[in-house]
Amino acid sequence: MQLLKNKVMQEGIVLSDNVLKVDSFLNHQMDPVLMKEVGREFSRRFSHEPITKILTIESSGIAPAIMTALELEVPMIFARKHKSLTLRDHILVEKVYSFTKQETNEITVSKKFLSSDDHVLIIDDFLANGEAAFGLARIVEQIGAKVAGIGIVIEKSFQPGGRLLQEAGYQVESLVRIAALDNGCVTFAEEVIS
Ligand code: G4P
Repeated sequence: MQLLKNKVMQEGIVLSDNVLKVDSFLNHQMDPVLMKEVGREFSRRFSHEPITKILTIESSGIAPAIMTALELEVPMIFARKHKSLTLRDHILVEKVYSFTKQETNEITVSKKFLSSDDHVLIIDDFLANGEAAFGLARIVEQIGAKVAGIGIVIEKSFQPGGRLLQEAGYQVESLVRIAALDNGCVTFAEEVIS
């Protein structure tokens, strides 16, 4: 997706060999025009699937997920990473380990909002090791629903998440794929840009 690539080139900051900072449009300040296009692109890429729900994880997944949900006119649910006061019973829970942060979160979704009839599109902002996406897929499968696919805004293809999810049989659509973050430069999967 060229618009997103341009944004990464113009505003992305390479923090280390494996972390890209994009807080000006995705992880802190959010760009609604870009998110609208992201939603359109995901809905186009998964148009062959009878999607009934979008599922993401708080917090940065919410913007691309809600825009996709708006485009497809289906509800969007976000998994919580922190225990909610009002969400205690009838919940689906999965453990998600983050290699980047070296911590485990218990993610929760109310059983009220997913059923075995659902075809769920999982959306997230970043894909690194795939732990968050696998955790969300396990939540969907716990209730007997179907994972219709996984949509990622930025995949770091030098980390194993994308390959592992595909090997597990999921359709993964990443809007940009980053092959390397060496020497302060972003290398996209097809080309080199500094
Ligand atoms: P994984 O799910 O693919 O295994 O990823 P990982 O545990 O490594 O990611 C943990 C958090 O770090 C996630 O956000 C993820 O989006 C973010 N992250 C991973 N790599 C990068 C990166 O290169 N750049 C940026 N900007 N973020 C990255 P989170 O903690 O859930 O944050 P948020 O959604 O609350 O903003």
